[in-house]
Amino acid sequence: MGGIAVCPGSFDPITNGHLDIIKRGAKVFEQIHVVVLNNSSKKPLFTVEERLALIKDVTKEIPNVTVASFQGLLVDYANQVNASAIIRGLRAVSDFEYEMQITSMNRVLNDKIETFFIMTNNQYSFLSSSIVKEVAKYNGKISELVPPSVEKALINKFLG
Ligand code: PNS
Repeated sequence: MGGIAVCPGSFDPITNGHLDIIKRGAKVFEQIHVVVLNNSSKKPLFTVEERLALIKDVTKEIPNVTVASFQGLLVDYANQVNASAIIRGLRAVSDFEYEMQITSMNRVLNDKIETFFIMTNNQYSFLSSSIVKEVAKYNGKISELVPPSVEKALINKFLG
């Protein structure tokens, strides 16, 4: 398909589910800008710098992926990097209403940018940053849910 796409999120922290969406998006689009944005309804565990460092580490082998953060609207960032597409992962029906709302809002703000959804692999359909943090907090096994550097960062955060 080609073109430049933005893959936005809180990424607090990046999980194997996010990584799967990024990798699959990178096969379809020429360039993917993974961007850490602020979700005003969430209180992040990791700083923006920490989240950026983890995303950079786990995407370093994917040549057409760049990583950035942005304080502002997603559509403004997309405009800034000449992206014509937004990629979001979709896990289950429960994601639909929220995704529909932000997609519609983004279209009202800029109707030249199209949002594309990639269905999550079945093995990650239950996975979210929140559930990973919950398990990590109580010292549960997360090695199959996040890349090794993210596992280390979570253990450091919760268990010092
Ligand atoms: O990983 P998340 O928390 O589901 O990602 C949501 C995110 C960060 C993409 C969304 O909150 C966002 O786009 N924030 C930036 C502000 C913005 O553009 N808001 C308008 C669309 S709701």
